Amino acid sequence: MSMRRTLGRAAAGFAAATLALTGLAACSAEREGTTGGESAAAEETIVGIAMPTRSLERWNNDGDHLKALLEEAGYKVSLQYADNKVEQQITQIQNMVNEGADILVVASIDGTALAPVLADAKAKDATVIAYDRLINGTPDVDYYATFDNELVGTLQGQFIEEQLGLKDGEGPFNLEPFAGSPDDNNAKFFFKGAWDVLLPYVESGQLVVPSGKSPASVDEWTSIGIQGWESAKAQSEMENRLNSFYQDKKVNVVLSPNDSLALGIAQALESAGYAPGAEYPVITGQDADLANTKNILADKQSMSVWKDTRTLGNQVAKMVDSIVAGEEPEVNDTETYDNGEKVVPSFLLEPQVVTKDDVESALVESGFFDASELGL
Ligand code: BGC
Repeated sequence: MSMRRTLGRAAAGFAAATLALTGLAACSAEREGTTGGESAAAEETIVGIAMPTRSLERWNNDGDHLKALLEEAGYKVSLQYADNKVEQQITQIQNMVNEGADILVVASIDGTALAPVLADAKAKDATVIAYDRLINGTPDVDYYATFDNELVGTLQGQFIEEQLGLKDGEGPFNLEPFAGSPDDNNAKFFFKGAWDVLLPYVESGQLVVPSGKSPASVDEWTSIGIQGWESAKAQSEMENRLNSFYQDKKVNVVLSPNDSLALGIAQALESAGYAPGAEYPVITGQDADLANTKNILADKQSMSVWKDTRTLGNQVAKMVDSIVAGEEPEVNDTETYDNGEKVVPSFLLEPQVVTKDDVESALVESGFFDASELGL
C-alpha cells in the first residue's frame, strides 16, 4: 500500500459520515510489543475490524483489545460484531470498504462466504488480515494471524491420553467426541490435532464410542460438528447421546473442542446426574472463558486450551503498523494455511494448557482475570 494511496483513501474516509469512527486522539505513542506505527500515517489510516459475535466472551475481549491498541497509536477504527449472521458480516465489511477502510481485520463467521466482498476491498486497494480464522476460496486475503489451531487439538488429545493412561494400555473408556462449527475453518484443524492422537486408541479398542458418533477419519469431522459453536446445541446433542446410549453405562471422557461446547456438555451431564468426583468424565475445552474457568475450579471441566487474546491483538497491531509503514509484516508460517486459492502467510501463536493447578499462575498472574472474578 503506497503512502499516497493511504492518504488519499483516508481523506475519502473522512468524508464518510456514516462510519462509526472513534478515538480520533492524536496519540501515536509506541506500543509495547509493536513496531510502532508512523504516527502521521496511522492518523490517516482507517482500520475496519469485523468480529463474529458478542455472544462468546473471547470475541468481546479480542475486539476491545485490538481497537484500544490501534486507537492508542492513532488509527481510526471501526469495530463491528455480526451476531453470528453471515449476511450481516458481509454487509458490515461492505460498509467498511465503501467508507474507505485501508486495512480490514476479519474474524469470519463463514470462511467461505467473503470472496465477493473482499474482491471489492482489493479493487479499492485495501489490505486484508484474517484474524484467528482463515478466509477461504479467495486470493484477496493478504495475511493471517492466529494461534496454532492444530496444536490446540493436539494438546486436547494428549491431555486425554495422559489423564486416562492410554499410552500405558489403560481402557476401555467410553468417549464422546464433539467438533466445532462446520463453517469455521479452525474447527477442522482442532479436530485433526485431537483425532490424530485419539483415533489409534479408538481403533485399538481402548476408547469406545457408545453413541457411534466416531468419525472413521479426520475428513468426516463435520458429521459431529456443532453449528455456530452453540452451547445449547452441544447440550441437546449430549443429552440425546446420554439418553440413547448410556442407560447402563457411564461416559468417561468427552472431547470438546472449545469452552462454549464444554459448557453445554457439562450442563447435560449435570442434568443426567453426574457430579464432580470419581465418576465425573474428563472434559476438554479451549479459550479459558470465565464460566469455564469457574467450572475448572469446581472440577466440572478438566482443562482449557488458553489462547491469550491479548497476544493475538498485539501481533495484528504489529502487522497493521508494518503494512502502513510499507514493510512486510512478520510471519512465521508460509505452508500450513492454504485457502484453496493461495497459501496465506501466517503468524501462529502458541496456545497453552490450563488446568485447575494453573488458573492462578497463568490466568490470574497475567492479568487475564482478576482473582475476585473467579472467587479466589
Ligand atoms: C476460535 C475459538 C472459539 C470458536 C468459537 C474458533 O474459531 O478459534 O477460540 O472458541 O471459534 O467462537
